[in-house]
Amino acid sequence: MTLTGRRILLIVGGGIAAYKCLDLVRRLRERGAVVTPVMTPDAAEFVTPLSLGALTGARVYGELFDRDDEHDVGHIRLAREADLVILAPASATRMAKMAAGIGDDLAGAILLATATPVLAAPAMNPAMWRHPATRRSAATLAADGIRFVGPNRGEMAERGEAGEGRMAEPLEIVAAAEAILSPVAAGPLAGRHVVVTSGPTHEPIDPVRYIANRSSGRQGHAIAGALARAGARVTLVSGPVALPDPAGVSAVHVETARQMLAAVEAALPADAAVFVAAVADWRTQDEAGQKMKKGADGPPHLALIENPDILRTVGTGARRPALVVGFAAETSDLLVHAGRKLAAKGADLIVANDVSEGTGVMGGTRNTVRLVSAGGVEDWPELDKREVAERLVAEIARRLSEKDPRP
Ligand code: CTP
Repeated sequence: MTLTGRRILLIVGGGIAAYKCLDLVRRLRERGAVVTPVMTPDAAEFVTPLSLGALTGARVYGELFDRDDEHDVGHIRLAREADLVILAPASATRMAKMAAGIGDDLAGAILLATATPVLAAPAMNPAMWRHPATRRSAATLAADGIRFVGPNRGEMAERGEAGEGRMAEPLEIVAAAEAILSPVAAGPLAGRHVVVTSGPTHEPIDPVRYIANRSSGRQGHAIAGALARAGARVTLVSGPVALPDPAGVSAVHVETARQMLAAVEAALPADAAVFVAAVADWRTQDEAGQKMKKGADGPPHLALIENPDILRTVGTGARRPALVVGFAAETSDLLVHAGRKLAAKGADLIVANDVSEGTGVMGGTRNTVRLVSAGGVEDWPELDKREVAERLVAEIARRLSEKDPRP
């Protein structure tokens, strides 16, 4: 049993996804966890304290000023007595309150008082998840060390609505909890914070069209997951992808290059950063507010301007992590271009790959890479992207311990 004796404080938030918490409790207890439930007032609209109490076999906490407990400062005790706090579902409002440090109910007070890791499972309408205010909350919370699982893409409770916003499934939440609580604390990257970018970016042309590329996020997500398994605290800044967040990472979801840069900067400081994202180099100068229509003037001429280079900004910036790793996606003169990028972008290591048509790398599952650093070039055989990730994480751990040995 992977969670034997681990004390989990489960804060059930308001939202239709709250019903999944009943299954979550069952899954956590099957694995040996001791679950203490807390319900927000809104949660009681969706599940009853009676069902939650019956499933956990424990008392359900709900009021900030509980007559029985407040004499020993109940919320502080609840916050301290857990190995992990799980917040599910985490609504947009709850995330905004957490980001602002508002503790005006028991859940808020616990989240403010706790020093134990917090795992949040957001669930909301896709439009709310995409809203800049929620993006800001998510970036702030990730920088504060809150881990996220989900949300996933899919159908929403509202009929006909689809997109990113569905709460992660109970078993995904359990896997994320196990990843946080399992003894990877002894891993080679324990105590290190690593930022990873992954996926493409989408640069809007008008409300329905965008500039993008074929990146699937597979390589970046595999690296983020492998870093977490090696014990690192990982902030994954991901463009739009169809993949779930890897277990045990704090994921920040963005769409554009500018949002990606802002999220990376909000996540610093870090010990290492790995820039895997296929960031769109250009965006349109003016995003049309309305859908562009066909007209007598013929096709529109899109004026493009350059996006910020995230790797170069961080690699040459004042808050540069000790180890900076970039990727180079090339279709010709691989080593020449990778060598130039190493110097120009301030990277310690460039993982160069040939993405020519026919290699199947972009969007595929396998990759053949060459590692370019000041020390020379190292060729790796063709590997599954997950194997590339494992090997790269071992390389990162080795280089980081040379550059910045732990006391
Ligand atoms: N990168 C970035 N921000 C950008 C462009 C690229 O952070 N706006 C990062 C990528 O994540 C990758 C590295 O820079 O780690 C190289 O990306 P690549 O697309 O190969 O190179 P470009 O800088 O776009 O150069 P070019 O288009 O000339 O190949």
